[in-house]
Amino acid sequence: MQIVKTVSALQATLKIWRQAGEIIAFVPTMGNLHRGHLQLVQAAKTRANRVVVSIFVNPTQFGVGEDFESYPRTEQEDRQKLHEAATDLLFLPAVTEVYRPDAQTVISVTGVSGRYCGASRPGHFAGVATVVCKLFNIVQPDIAVFGEKDFQQLAVIRAMVRDLNIPVDILSVATVREASGLAMSSRNHYLSAEERNIAASLYKSLCTAQEAILLGGQTYSEIERQALQYLQQAGFQPDYFSICRSQDLQAATPDDSELVILAAAKLGKTRLIDNVSFSLSAAKAPKS
Ligand code: PAF
Repeated sequence: MQIVKTVSALQATLKIWRQAGEIIAFVPTMGNLHRGHLQLVQAAKTRANRVVVSIFVNPTQFGVGEDFESYPRTEQEDRQKLHEAATDLLFLPAVTEVYRPDAQTVISVTGVSGRYCGASRPGHFAGVATVVCKLFNIVQPDIAVFGEKDFQQLAVIRAMVRDLNIPVDILSVATVREASGLAMSSRNHYLSAEERNIAASLYKSLCTAQEAILLGGQTYSEIERQALQYLQQAGFQPDYFSICRSQDLQAATPDDSELVILAAAKLGKTRLIDNVSFSLSAAKAPKS
């Protein structure tokens, strides 16, 4: 695995691969890699000749008082994992390599960025969209791979790619979970042993809500209210629990069939997010 820290070194290698007609897949990350990230690398490998992974803890997507400073940085372990996953190139830029001090441009995806995590973390999605757009321009991949755990982030990136005609195919990969159901996340490291036991209740609340929707008989707002209450009783400080249509993340109505339930809740100091997406038309389809 080649490791490069500068844009020019990265582009020199990419140029050779592109001239050889190779398909390039890109997996942007903030490091502290877990099985979820390695699934993204695996998915990238099945679609491309070359896989580029970036590790960059992006300061612009962290708000004031958030965990930019304490975000886990585990470069040596990450290098080893990527090497074992047969990554072709690891891009490890410094902040100064990505951002000019006099930068004046920010990518703001309106609409889909405004609610849920966007409402609770002002500026977060502008930071994500800006860095992902820059990384796309730097790497110019054919395919870029993202996890479905960050469902709203995925929607923001898809909207940006569509609206700005960025020539990249976005591939999403299902959330990888621990045996308890807890979605893999770098932020799980912040959880105490006791909190870790409680944390799986977030996924449980999503599954319970999904079952209630499939069963029918309750309004979506009743289901959301019960889930918020359940999370509170389990020891979370819930931020939101919203039944949405997956296409645009607007509040779902009974007429919508492609749904995603998005949830975020704090457990002690740790903010966890998760979601389940499903289709009512598949559930209602007559059995053959
Ligand atoms: O999902 C992440 O790890 C980050 O938000 C991303 C997409 C790498 C941008 O910094």
